[in-house]
Amino acid sequence: SDGRLRAVRDRVRSFPDFPQPGVLFRDISPLLKDPVAFRTLIDLLEDHVRASFPKIDFVVGLDSRGFLIGTPLAQRLGIGFVPVRKKGKLPGATESISYSLEYGRLEIQSDAVEAGQKVLIVDDLLATGGTMRAACELLKRLKAEVLGCLVIIELKALKGSEKLNSIPFYSLLQYD
Ligand code: PRP
Ligand code: HPA
Repeated sequence: SDGRLRAVRDRVRSFPDFPQPGVLFRDISPLLKDPVAFRTLIDLLEDHVRASFPKIDFVVGLDSRGFLIGTPLAQRLGIGFVPVRKKGKLPGATESISYSLEYGRLEIQSDAVEAGQKVLIVDDLLATGGTMRAACELLKRLKAEVLGCLVIIELKALKGSEKLNSIPFYSLLQYD
């Protein structure tokens, strides 16, 4: 499993000063481009989810890179996928939440999840945790049970996981 983790980590690239000076951007494009490494990524996430969350109704993925991870993971688990999107993209009744001055709002369709259903929220990366925290709040408004939050990459120095309070959080790879 250590070798599998290394194979995934080897396909994350770092770009200094993107999108702004002082930011070291972690880029998962090489991971998406390599089918063997990408399969290994989904294998590792599947193993973790099956061991930690035996009964989930849906994988919820966050716009947009969370979709790239959440949909194959949901397929692998044999369950459905629910998108959380940036504002103005989803038709019908929605719940929405403002989550940052620069990003704006996140939305979910009001009928996406029923009260009491169990979900796992997935994204590519946790930075400040603002996006993940907002998604948790949206699911809470639908009275869903958020069993956990899962990302590939956690930027540890930003302490984003502290924003998630008591919700179990798991990251496959950690960076300082
Ligand atoms: C990035 C990333 C997470 C979020 C993490 O998405 O994919 O969703 O930011 O940042 P935070 O923990 O500080 O909230 P972005 O908003 O750039 O959208 P994208 O996936 O569409 O590129
Ligand atoms: N990489 C990718 N997405 C991000 C990052 C990063 O370093 N920080 C915030 N969103």
